[in-house]
Amino acid sequence: MCGIVGYLGEKPAQPILIAGLKRLEYRGYDSAGIVSLSPRSKATLVRAKGKVSELVAKVSEAPKTDVIGIGHTRWATHGEPSKRNAHPHNVGDIYLVHNGIIENYQDLKAMLSRYDYEMKSDTDTEVLTALIDYLSHKHETLLEAVSGALNMVVGAYGIAVIDRKNPDEIIVARKGSPLILGLGKGEVFIASDASAIVGYTDQVIYLRDGEVAQCMRDGVELYDLEQNVVSQTVETLEIDLQAIQKQGHKHFLEKEIYEQPETVRATLGGRIDTEKHTAKLGGLNMTDAELRAVKHIFVVGCGTASYAGLLAKYYIEQLAPDVMVSVEVASELRYRSFTVPENSVALFVSQSGETADTLACLTEMKRRGVRCLGVVNAVGSTIAREVDGGVYLHVGAEISVASTKAFTSQVVAMVIFGIMLADSKGADKRVISEFVDELDSLPSQIEALLAEQAGEIAGIAKKYAKYEHALYIGRDALFPVALEGALKMKEISYIHAEGYPSGELKHGPIALIDDRFFEVCYIQDNWLYEKSQSNLIEMNARGAHAIAITDTTKKVPAENVIRVKTKLSYLTPLLFNIVTQLLAYNIAIARKTDVDQPRNLAKSVTVE
Ligand code: AGP
Repeated sequence: MCGIVGYLGEKPAQPILIAGLKRLEYRGYDSAGIVSLSPRSKATLVRAKGKVSELVAKVSEAPKTDVIGIGHTRWATHGEPSKRNAHPHNVGDIYLVHNGIIENYQDLKAMLSRYDYEMKSDTDTEVLTALIDYLSHKHETLLEAVSGALNMVVGAYGIAVIDRKNPDEIIVARKGSPLILGLGKGEVFIASDASAIVGYTDQVIYLRDGEVAQCMRDGVELYDLEQNVVSQTVETLEIDLQAIQKQGHKHFLEKEIYEQPETVRATLGGRIDTEKHTAKLGGLNMTDAELRAVKHIFVVGCGTASYAGLLAKYYIEQLAPDVMVSVEVASELRYRSFTVPENSVALFVSQSGETADTLACLTEMKRRGVRCLGVVNAVGSTIAREVDGGVYLHVGAEISVASTKAFTSQVVAMVIFGIMLADSKGADKRVISEFVDELDSLPSQIEALLAEQAGEIAGIAKKYAKYEHALYIGRDALFPVALEGALKMKEISYIHAEGYPSGELKHGPIALIDDRFFEVCYIQDNWLYEKSQSNLIEMNARGAHAIAITDTTKKVPAENVIRVKTKLSYLTPLLFNIVTQLLAYNIAIARKTDVDQPRNLAKSVTVE
C-alpha cells in the first residue's frame, strides 16, 4: 500500500519525486522520504512523519539539483509510523524503498547480526537494505547484490535501490507489489502506480513478478533473479493528467460520485445491444459452449468489491437460474479448506487489481485449474495480468480511498457477464431484455438523480452528522447496498455503521435502537414493500431516527424520506446506493474528516 517513486535523468530529481509522492499519497501516508545523489556521490536523505507536505517543508530547507533519486510514502506494516521507520532506508552506501512484506526478515536480521549489522528501525525494509549492503561487498555490481538478496527473501516486494558510489543507475525489482517504469528521452521514471508517471511520458514497462530492472539514462535492461536478460514490452499509458485532477470538485470523492453517468457509459461501451438484447465482453475468452456449461460462480473480493459481488449475485441468479453464485471474502477464502464444484468459474473483483488477499485466492484457484476471470479497473495490474480473461471497468483512475464509481461499474460489468451467461443457456429472454434496457438507461437515471436530488440529500445528511452510530437495513438486492452504504459511512465519516438484512432486525440488531443511532432503511416499491415498511415501523416503535430511501410515492413513516424518481426496477438498488454515497460524503464534510484519505486506510491493500 506504500507509494514508490524514482527518477534518473538530467532534471533535478527532488521536485519530480515530491510531485510523484503527492499523486501517490492516497496509497498510504503515515510517513514519507526521498534520497538524491549528487554527481560526486553525496547523498541527501530527507524523511518525515506524516503527510508529504511535512516532507516538502524539510526538503525546501536544503534543496538539491541532484538528478537521481528515489522516494516513498509509507503505510506502516512493521514498526509504528515515525521518521525512524520511514523510507528510504540506508545501510552503508545502499538506499532502498520498499512496498510489501519480507516474511523471513527476522531470520535475515539474525544472520546479519553475526556480521555486526545493527538495525536502527523496526522495519523489515531496513533488514533487506542491510542484506544488500552485505552482499554488495561480495559482488561486483549492485544488480548482482540485489538479485542475490532477493533470492534469500521470502515475501512480497516492490523495491527501488541506489548505491551512493554509483549515481548513474537505479535497480528496481518486484514480486507481488506493482512497479511501472516510464521511459523518457535520456531519463527514466519509476513508480508503484501509473498516476505518478502521467504527464512525463506515456511509454511504460510494467515490471512482472520475479523481474529485476537496471535503469540507466539510456534505457532499461530487464533480468530474472538469475541475471538472465528477459524480454521487455513497452506499452502506451492510457491515463491522462486531466483525468487525475479534481476537475473543479472539492474532493476526488465528489468528482468520482458525479462521474458515474459517464463511467457507467464507459463500462457499457459497445458491450450491450439494445436491439437484439444481447451482451458481449470481448476479453472474456469464453465460447458460448463454455458459458453454457457454467453451473457455479465464485465471486471473490474484499470490502466494496465483495459487496459489488454480493449485489451481482442477486442479478446473475435472476438472469441464469441454473447458476449458483458464492460470494467469498478473499481474506477468509484464502485460508479456508473449500471444494470447487465441477463447471465452476471464479470472478476476481478488484478496482486496483493489486489487493493481496484477492490475488492470493486467484493464485489458489489457478493452481486448482479453475477458469479465472477478472473484473478490474487498473489496466496492466497484477490481477488483470494473471486471469484467463475478464473485463476492464474503464472508469479511469479512482483516486479517493473510498470506492464509488468502481462499485457501480463492477456491478454493471457483472450484470453484463450474467446476461451473456443467461443468453448462452437460453434463459428467459424477457428478463434478459429488461436487464439490457435497464443497463442502457442507468447512466441517464444516475444523471437525473445527481442533478435533481443532490441538494436535498445534502440538506438531510447534515442533520445526522452528530450521531456516532448508524444501522443500515435492506432486503434482497438492497441488503448488499446496506452493507456498502454502511462501509462508505464508516470509512469517510468514522461513524460506526452496520449493514443488515432487514429481516434480521428481530434477531438482534433491534436491541441497539436508541437516541445514539440513526437508521437508513431502503424500501423498494416491489414484492417486498410491505415487509420493508413493517421493519421501518418496528424501528420507529423503538424511537428510530430513520432516513428512508425509496422509489415509492406512497406514505413512508420515517423522520426523513428521500424519494428516488426512477423507471428502473432490477437496478434501482444502484440508484439507492448513489444516494448513500452522497449521504456519507456530506456527513463526512460536516464532520471535517479527511474525505479522500481517511485515517488508517490506503487505496490499495497490497499486503495482508
Ligand atoms: C472501499 O471503499 C475500500 N477502499 C475498500 O474496501 C476496497 O474496496 C477494498 O480494499 C478492495 O480494493 P480493490 O477493489 O482495489 O481490490
